[in-house]
Amino acid sequence: MLQKIGVIFTAVFLVTCFASACGKALAKGAGSQGAVVATWAAPAEERLFEEYKVRVNGRAVPVYACRVSAMPFNQVWPGYQRPLDQTELAGFAYWGMSGPVSVEIVSKRPFGSVAVRPSSRSIKPIINGRHISFQLSQPGQFSVELDGRHHALHLFADPPEAAVPEPGDPNVLYFGPGVHKPGKILLKSGQTVYVAGGAVVYTAIEGRGVSGAKILGRGIIDTSEFARGLGGGSIHFEDSSDITIDGVIVRDSDVYGISAFGCHKLAISRVKLVGFWRYNSDGIDMCNTQDVTVRNSFIRSFDDSMVLKGVKGRSGGARPLPGQSYDGLPVRNIRMSGLVIWCDWGRALEIGAETSAPEMADVVYRDIDVIRNTHIALDIQHSDRAAIHNIRYEDIRVEVDDSNPLPVIQSKPGEKYSPRPDAAAAACGGCATLPEHTGYVPNLFVIVIHPTAITRDREAGTVRDVLFKDIAVAGKTMLPSAFTGLDAMHDVRGVTIENLRFNGHPITNAADAHLQIGKFAEEARFLVDSILVMGQFGSKTKKVKPAKGLSGTVQFPGDKSISHRYAMLGAIAEGASEIHFFSTSADCQSTLSCLKQLGAKIERKDNVVTIQGAGLGGLRPCAEPLNAGNSGSTMRMLTGILAGQPFRSVMMGDASLSARPMKRVADPLSQMGAVVKLREGRLPPLEIEGGALKPIRYEMPVASAQVKSAVLLAGLFAEGETEVIEKERTRDHTEIALEQMGADIGRHERSVAVRGRARLEGKKLYVPGDLSSAAFFIVAGLVTSNSNLMLHNLGLNPTRTGILDVLVPMGGRVTVVNLEMMNGELIGDLHIETSKLQGGEIPESAVPGLIDELPVLAVLGTQTEQGLSFRGAGELRLKESDRLAAVAENLRRMGAEVEEFPDGLCLAGRQTLHGAEIDPHDDHRIAMAFTVAGLVAQGDTHIKNSSCVDISFPGFFDTLSKITE
Ligand code: S3P
Repeated sequence: MLQKIGVIFTAVFLVTCFASACGKALAKGAGSQGAVVATWAAPAEERLFEEYKVRVNGRAVPVYACRVSAMPFNQVWPGYQRPLDQTELAGFAYWGMSGPVSVEIVSKRPFGSVAVRPSSRSIKPIINGRHISFQLSQPGQFSVELDGRHHALHLFADPPEAAVPEPGDPNVLYFGPGVHKPGKILLKSGQTVYVAGGAVVYTAIEGRGVSGAKILGRGIIDTSEFARGLGGGSIHFEDSSDITIDGVIVRDSDVYGISAFGCHKLAISRVKLVGFWRYNSDGIDMCNTQDVTVRNSFIRSFDDSMVLKGVKGRSGGARPLPGQSYDGLPVRNIRMSGLVIWCDWGRALEIGAETSAPEMADVVYRDIDVIRNTHIALDIQHSDRAAIHNIRYEDIRVEVDDSNPLPVIQSKPGEKYSPRPDAAAAACGGCATLPEHTGYVPNLFVIVIHPTAITRDREAGTVRDVLFKDIAVAGKTMLPSAFTGLDAMHDVRGVTIENLRFNGHPITNAADAHLQIGKFAEEARFLVDSILVMGQFGSKTKKVKPAKGLSGTVQFPGDKSISHRYAMLGAIAEGASEIHFFSTSADCQSTLSCLKQLGAKIERKDNVVTIQGAGLGGLRPCAEPLNAGNSGSTMRMLTGILAGQPFRSVMMGDASLSARPMKRVADPLSQMGAVVKLREGRLPPLEIEGGALKPIRYEMPVASAQVKSAVLLAGLFAEGETEVIEKERTRDHTEIALEQMGADIGRHERSVAVRGRARLEGKKLYVPGDLSSAAFFIVAGLVTSNSNLMLHNLGLNPTRTGILDVLVPMGGRVTVVNLEMMNGELIGDLHIETSKLQGGEIPESAVPGLIDELPVLAVLGTQTEQGLSFRGAGELRLKESDRLAAVAENLRRMGAEVEEFPDGLCLAGRQTLHGAEIDPHDDHRIAMAFTVAGLVAQGDTHIKNSSCVDISFPGFFDTLSKITE
């Protein structure tokens, strides 16, 4: 029989105590399938591409020639016109259709294989000798590839033309079928350029300061007569608004195909950019431009394809005249959908590399096929100062060709393209590599903040809130990805990868995604079927060696419990709060992220968090679910605040949090008048519609500081007194913080009341070091021989010091020094020395006060003289993991004797632990407790997925290794 441990320590502290008509076709007719097919004869002067013959519903369609890049070989600026031996001819054909059609292609050359891309259209060609046939149910843009990428055939099928302009209209520059050479066209406001089907117009079109201009038709705009850079691009607008570009084919642009600088309101649809072969001929570039839609278009370019930029100067690269730079204008509200991209060099969907703009925000890429990709499919290359935020990539399909050649920068004129298969790709800053892969593969997602050769701003920017949702990669190799920030002030935050699939299979972790999370980008999250999968980043097995002793001084991150509360209260207080030593934990970052989602203005510089409180009614609804990550405290306590908000919110979390009970907060908050819905009536996601609340008197069925806090926080919004009664005393940080911020609080031995509606005042707050994180060092110091540790600035609130209350009576040499009060919380230092510990039975009443410390105390129990037991701790099964089961399982792995009860554990004393492989079940406290076990074990201990410690204590392993001998 173990002896009950007398709780003597508390007394000491209590004394001290804180988004038709069929046009004028030259030939049209209904085919076998009833659809009207519009075709146009090619001008006699036009050189056709003889490799292929195409018929649509039996009607011959001309196949035009275009020059494309034959190899990913580029010349750095200033560069000369690209030699033709780096290029090849490809074909394209276009027609209109009102319904399903059959397409027949006859190839001049024999072939072995045929691919029709995008593969997502599921077109299965029937091959008969050199004849290929397939059905097309809808318009679209397709590439037919025979034996791979060379001499491809691009097919552009449009719906019937609507609203065709009259040739005599004075506002219309009308180009009928045939070849036209008007020179450069300077558009005026309200003018329309109409390029009819069957027309080829050799020109470059420019609009400066115009509004209401349109470029329409089904014909071809060709810019081949302009030397590199002299046309200014095939279609180029500056300082213009209300621009419509629809249906045209753009061939052989001298620089960017379609570009806009300092413009707003552009609608681009059904454009087909093809035959871009010169050095750095981007596809569509929207620079410092707002309110843009780019829909149902095809881009094959020899540099970045669909690009958003922020530039200094009048157009890309020009030197700015004073007051004439575009960089004061944002890139905002850009919607791109239904695109098919073939990128022969560079990035398919690119933000950057120039990012000189106040912000680049509200950008949506949706329903896009990247059919060929050279460097990076989805890229944010941030080299200037913009605040880049709210970027959504949704329903994007990326096709991977493992035979893609390696992109190479030409180092001198005349050099021939001869890639070494083992060499890393050039010109790919921030890219991830796939070391074990022998061929070249491009990247899938890259986000990088770094200065480049084209950086113009002195200051760097940030990247926030990027969503990669429903991204499907198909091919032999899963493409690698990388996220890297610049420094703590210029970091990448709030990246979510939701439903990433490779050949249809979900990818749930960074390792399988080949995702390299670099510095200042650590906060990325994976979601699968709307459940977060995390704790896998940089997930590494950590080896723990037996320790000879521990000595030195340790500073701990700010207390997690208190940091959550200060942040939440700061967001609903009036005026600014400055929170010093804010917890570095991933959990507290989840609280900050949720508050930001609710519109709170929060800045974080190192460990100081500044919140501009907007008062009780200052939060705003968020359309997206709030993401609480792994943090139960965030979900439960924030629900209390959401109960008082006159809007609906949804909160979700990772797989672990999605399995934790939420009815305990839903019940009292429903009694107060909030409408709360839970999965299966008890689990997250949690949906809450708040509003007018009434005060309640709530007797808590479970001892939980989170539930108590949720009710008190809701009480702030209810007129009158809300009272919470608890059976066992739980941590009282909420009550203390409320008092500190000016709320009217009444406290008794087992009850606390708050009067609403309250007014909280923002203030300067200091967070004490986290005793629950220190607990691992306290136990390690006691059980490891030759230990002498000084643990500084720890929160010693008596509702948290339960661990000391049991350790001291059993012989733990723990001395408290330098006690002081800060914001109503007691802070002090602890001196820890190796001790002979008796062990015993922890009384049930003490359990709520040391609930988070029980896993490490269980480890300690095996090293006591008499062993250790505790009951009444069923709550431990409902934490980040089933901690009773996880402790028992892992101790047994180490050879220990453990008895497991439904609500507790009994550990025999004086046990020899043996190094083993530990499965922390993604639970930070289990990983840390067993690291401590590893210090006293014989042989090495391996902690799997050790990065889960970041949930509460990033830096845990480094801190420990500094004091370990
Ligand atoms: C916490 C209360 C405890 C604790 C958790 C933090 C808090 O949870 O386990 O780590 O900050 O209020 P319960 O309230 O569920 O006991």
